Amino acid sequence: MLGAGTLFMDRVAKAETMISAMSAPDNNNTKSQKQMKIVVLTGSPRKNGNSAHLADQFIKGAQENGHSVFRFDCAFQKFEGCIGCNRCGMNGDCIFNDDFNLVKDHIVDADMVVFATPMYYFGVSAQLKKAIDRFYSINGKIKGANKKTAYLMTYANTNPQQAEAMKSHYTIMSEYLGWKDMGQVIAPGVWSAGDIKSTSYGKKAYDLGKSL
Ligand SMILES: Cc1cc2nc3c(=O)[nH]c(=O)nc-3n(C[C@H](O)[C@H](O)[C@H](O)COP(=O)(O)O)c2cc1C
Repeated sequence: MLGAGTLFMDRVAKAETMISAMSAPDNNNTKSQKQMKIVVLTGSPRKNGNSAHLADQFIKGAQENGHSVFRFDCAFQKFEGCIGCNRCGMNGDCIFNDDFNLVKDHIVDADMVVFATPMYYFGVSAQLKKAIDRFYSINGKIKGANKKTAYLMTYANTNPQQAEAMKSHYTIMSEYLGWKDMGQVIAPGVWSAGDIKSTSYGKKAYDLGKSL
């Protein structure tokens, strides 16, 4: 009997075959020079919080550079977490018809997907993770697609080691999806909403957006 891991990899292999058939071989050279469609997924329930500020600044820089941005604030949309029913087969219709539909096609079409989140118990916020888990139904369309990505993250403590699990999750997920990391802004020492405004991290996020 096959293990769950084997089944997962079988499905991934099928999805990869579809992706390679869909991708034009010369896309890699042209995409970095054109104006990009960027999706920003935010994970904080604090509207004027620290990670929202990083997202704002990143978006400002990217828009000034001519890129278009679609922002999806996960905490303010109503959608379910993946229940692993496998109806989608990792590349098909999800059993849920909810607000994730508002962003799904944007993610598939995007040249870049950016994650902005607070640290919640050493991981991404549940609100953002719920959206990431819903990638499952579009996995076959986004894995191996020619996309860029970036990471914006805030946390209250100042020990850099405590950010390692989140950085590792982002890096491994990016590698799995085949998305190119364009930069990370990891902001420690910000607790209350707005603390970030007295740091240089907002400028770093702006510069990252502007550099694209
Ligand atoms: C539920 C919860 C869990 C948190 N977990 C951590 C943590 O593990 N480590 C940490 O340094 N800060 C933690 N914090 C603090 C936030 O990461 C920090 O305040 C962050 O800047 C909030 O970003 P936001 O304003 O975008 O929501 C936590 C805050 C909350 C509400």
